[in-house]
Amino acid sequence: METQFDCVIDRYQTASLKWDNVRSMFGVDDVLPMWVADMDFMVPAPVLEAIRQRLEHGILGYTERPDSYFAAVSEWMLTRFNWSVRKEWIHFAPGVVPAISFIIQAFSSPGDKVVVQPPVYYPFMNTTTNNGRQVVYNPLKLANGRYTMDFADLERKLAPPDVKLLLLCHPHNPGGAVWTREELTKLGKICLEHKVLVVSDEIHADLIFKGHTHIPFASISENFAQNTLVCTAPSKTFNLAGLQTANIIIPNPQLGAVFAAHMKTVHLVRPNVFGTLATESAYRYGSAWLEELLDYLQGNMEFLVDYCETNIRQIKVMKPEGTYLVWLDCRALGMNDEELNQFLLTQAKVALDGGTWFGPGGEGFVRINIACPRATLADGLKRIGQALNAWEASKR
Ligand SMILES: Cc1ncc(COP(=O)(O)O)c(C=O)c1O
Repeated sequence: METQFDCVIDRYQTASLKWDNVRSMFGVDDVLPMWVADMDFMVPAPVLEAIRQRLEHGILGYTERPDSYFAAVSEWMLTRFNWSVRKEWIHFAPGVVPAISFIIQAFSSPGDKVVVQPPVYYPFMNTTTNNGRQVVYNPLKLANGRYTMDFADLERKLAPPDVKLLLLCHPHNPGGAVWTREELTKLGKICLEHKVLVVSDEIHADLIFKGHTHIPFASISENFAQNTLVCTAPSKTFNLAGLQTANIIIPNPQLGAVFAAHMKTVHLVRPNVFGTLATESAYRYGSAWLEELLDYLQGNMEFLVDYCETNIRQIKVMKPEGTYLVWLDCRALGMNDEELNQFLLTQAKVALDGGTWFGPGGEGFVRINIACPRATLADGLKRIGQALNAWEASKR
C-alpha cells in the first residue's frame, strides 16, 4: 500500500543543505544525497496549515512563546515519555547544536575538558574545540553489533577536576543505540560522583523502533534531573530543522538561571514566529503522523537490513534501535577511508556521511540516512551494490 511517505518530492532549488549543497560539500554533483539528518518527507499537514494561516495574517513581528506553547511541549513529554516537565524548565535555543555551544560557554572555561563518546555526532567535537575547550574521548565499545559504554574508562576520564561536561547522545547517532535505564543509571552516577554536568542530546528521542523505549535522562532520578540539561527539538521528528527551534529542558533552577543569563548576553531570547507555531502544532496535532512515520521508517530499516544481507554482504548493517540514521560497517572491503568515500561518491554515486567525521572508531564505517521514500532508498542501495559488484569483478 502506498503511503504519503512514498511520494518522491523534488528538493532541488530549495536551498536545501542536503540536496543543493552537495557540490560544495563533496565536490561532485551527480550523486544521490543520503547524508545529513533531515527527511525527504513533507511536514505533517496540520503544521503546514498552521503556518499557512499565520502567513495569511500578513504581519510577522516579534514573537513570544505563548502559554499554549509550553503546555504543548509538556504534554508531549508526559504522554510520550512519562516525564513531567514544568514550564519554567523549558528554555529556547535556535537549535540543539547552538544550545550545546552556549552550554559549553556558560558552564565551562577556556581550556576545560568536555567528555564525548565517539564515534558520535561530529558537532559534539567541533563545538567543544571551537570554544577553546578540550575534547576528552570515552570511546564506545562494539559488542554483538551494538555500541556499549566503557564505564571503567569513563571513571578515569571524569576524574580530573577540569572535566566539566559530558555530552551524551541519546539515542545515539550514528550507532542508533537507545540507551537503557541501566546504562543511563551507571553513567549518571559516575557523573554525579565526579561533579560533571550531563548534557543529554535527545533530539532523536521520538524516533524509536519497535521493542525499544526512550527514557529521558533527567527522568531517571531527582539527582540526575538536578545535574542535567536536556536538549530536545521537534526538528528531527517532524522535519522542521530549517525553522531553528529547540527546547532546552533544565530542571535545576540554578543551572537554568545560568543558561538564561548566558542567552541574554547573546540576546537569543526571542524565538522565530514559524518555529514557535510549528513546534506547538506538531506536538499538539502530530502524533498520528508520527506513528505512520515510525511504521514507514521501520519498514525502511528492515528493507535496508534485508537488502544488505541478500545483495551487499560485504557491508554489515548496525541495526538501529532508534533514529533514521544507519551505521554501515564497510571494514570488510579493505579500503581506507579516503578510498571508501571516493568509491561511494564516484562509483556508487551516493553521498553519505564519512565514518571518520564521527571521531575515533568511525574508521571503515559510513552513515546512511534512510528517511526517504523507499524507492529512493532502493535506488541508493542498488547503486552501492552494483558499484561493489563492478569493483570486485575488476579485481578478478
Ligand atoms: C544528535 C544530534 N544533535 C543535534 C542535531 C542538530 O540539531 P540542530 O539542527 O537543532 O542544531 C543533530 C542533527 O543531525 C543530531 O543528530
